Formats: sequence, C-alpha cells, structure tokens
Amino acid sequence: MAKQTASGKSFKIAVLPGDGTGPEVTREAVKVMDAAAAKYGFKTEKVEYDLGGERYKRTGEVCPESVVAELRGFDAILLGAIGHPDVKPGILEKGLLLKLRFDLDQYINLRPVRLFPGVECPLKDKGPEQIDYAVIRENSGDVYTGVGGTTQKGTPHEVATQVMVYNRFQVDRCLRYAFEYARKYGKKARGKGENNTLGLVGKTNVLTYVFDLWERAFHEMGAKEYPDVKRDYYHVDATCMWMVKSPEWFDVLVTGNMFGDIITDLGAMTQGGMGIAAGGNLNPEGVSMFEPIGGSAPKYTGKNVINPLAAICAMQMMLEHLGLEEAAKGVDAAVRRATGEKIKNLAAGKMGYSTTQVGDLVVSLLP
Ligand code: IPM
Ligand code: MN
Repeated sequence: MAKQTASGKSFKIAVLPGDGTGPEVTREAVKVMDAAAAKYGFKTEKVEYDLGGERYKRTGEVCPESVVAELRGFDAILLGAIGHPDVKPGILEKGLLLKLRFDLDQYINLRPVRLFPGVECPLKDKGPEQIDYAVIRENSGDVYTGVGGTTQKGTPHEVATQVMVYNRFQVDRCLRYAFEYARKYGKKARGKGENNTLGLVGKTNVLTYVFDLWERAFHEMGAKEYPDVKRDYYHVDATCMWMVKSPEWFDVLVTGNMFGDIITDLGAMTQGGMGIAAGGNLNPEGVSMFEPIGGSAPKYTGKNVINPLAAICAMQMMLEHLGLEEAAKGVDAAVRRATGEKIKNLAAGKMGYSTTQVGDLVVSLLP
C-alpha cells in the first residue's frame, strides 16, 4: 500500500448514494471525507451516480455497461445502500451490487469486526478489547456464481440446485490477500498478541470437496510463504458459537462467500449493529468499493435520524485503502471519540443526534 505522499495528491471517487437512507448517510461520509481532505492534505474529485431503485423505476436501467466502464476509471467507489421497497428483491442486489462486485472483480470483501468504545454490545462482559478481529470474505465465487438450475418447476418433483463453486485460482488469490493482511494487521503486528493468526473458516466435515481445496491451499501457501503467520482452522458452525462466546480468540478469519456473508452479519451485531458495521469490496489490483453493511432502511428515509457512522467507517476504510494513512487514522480516532464520549445509542432516532449532526460531530473531533 502506498504511503501518503505530500499534500495535494488527488483521488477520483465515484459516489453511489443509492436507495432509501443511502443518500443521507453518504452525504455525511462525504462531509467527513472533505473535512479530512482539507485537514490532512489530499484532494478528491467526486462524481455522483444515481444508480438504484428510483432510476430503475424511472428508466428500467439498473446498471448500464457504460457506467461500469466509467467506474473502472476511478480510484475508489463509495456506496450508500441498495434496496427499494417497490422493486422486487434480487433485481437491484444482483443487477447492481453483485454486478459491480463481479464485473470489477472485487474478489475480497473485508469486514472488520471491531467494537468501538462506548458502544453497547449484546455479548455479556465483552468490550473493545475482546471484539477486535477481521473477516476476509471471498467475494467472487461460491453459490454466488449462479451455477445451478431448476427442473420440473412447479411440480411436486421440482429440483433446484445452486452449486458451491471454487477454483484454485480464486482460493489462492483470496488466501494470499488474507495472509498478507494477517501479517500486516494481525494481533502481533498491532502489539495486541503473540501471533498474527489467520483462521480458515470452513466445513471440511461435510463440504469435503470445496473445503478440502481451501484447506490444502491454505496450508500449502502458509507453510511455504507465510511461516510467520499462525494457522488455525474452524468449522463455520463452531465459529458462530465462538463469535458469541469467545470473540477474543479471533484475529483474522478467511472464508468463502456464503459463510462470510452469514458470519459477518453476526459479527456486525456484536460490534453494535448495522449503524456501525462497514466493509470494503476490494480488487487489490483494480477499483474497490466501500459500503456500510446495512441496508437502505426505507422506514427511516428522509427523516435525518439514521446513523451515518457505518458509512463514515466505510469511507475511513477507503482512505486507508488509498494509502492515506494519516487521514484514515484521524477519522478512526474521531469516530472512536464520537462513540466513546458523545453518542450513547447507535440506533436510528435514539442517538441524541440527527444524521447531519453526527457528521458534524465527527468532523469536529478530527484530530
Ligand atoms: C451483503 C449482502 C449482499 C450479499 C446481498 C444484498 C446480495 O447481504 O453485502 O452482505 O449477500 O453479499
Ligand atoms: Mn449479507
């Protein structure tokens, strides 16, 4: 990752506010980004795209190829939320979110599970020290590839398959990212433990083809190229158990697309919910897209009550990804102070601050 160079470097950012509360939270993320740019000395050139449910309803377009082509020319993409109450589930998710992940080959979905100070955690006796790990979700394969089909539909003998597909190339590139990440951001690297540990989350006892491939690739690459990174293996069901009971055991986890989807929602709840959980869809060699994990929350739309911290955290991850380390650290510190000292509840309408006030607060706390 490039270090932050002298002031003045400019980044092209595509802003996709999306549906529902997406525009409200994205506005605050952009507000904080602009303040950070002024403070830490970088520039941004922002282009907004009106992709989402409204545009689909108006024009029938979800994500034109011309837009995908344009997006390839940006340094990063900031996404608000996708999902519209009048649009059948699946259309926007597949046509926009998954399309961008696939077409831009964002093969890593990085989802940190970090409890910030002052945030209420549903787990008994757990605090920021205990909930501090990252999930690296493979983002290009698995049941998400759409391999499968249906026959005899509508009959009592209907058959449906949706196949878990992985090839060695996909597994290897994901593992490589995960080992590198563990080496750089694991607990030892952060002075918080004796080892940098990468845990593979799978289901080798049942998915004896797919996770056999993952497990062999994991140990081969680890032994050969990352002997300094400790390797662990956990079944996905046990992982869920330990995420609740002993989250402090985890450092960096790597897993397939479907398991990663599921366990990161559990992780998000343990870090205070959708108001705070953020992730990055990364193409380390291309254009990456950062998003709050939560949805478009139609019932809060336009009320200025939704929590923008997840979007602000997604933007923070984007700064880090762009190599703006000082700015990324600054935003992280400001968010931690906001939760630790000011905002008492992360839920929409219960923060004691409006959406716009939370953005202002984070800006005011930038160190
Ligand atoms: C997520 C979401 C998506 C996924 C949906 C909306 C397609 O749940 O980003 O985790 O399954 O990846
Ligand atoms: Mn999900």
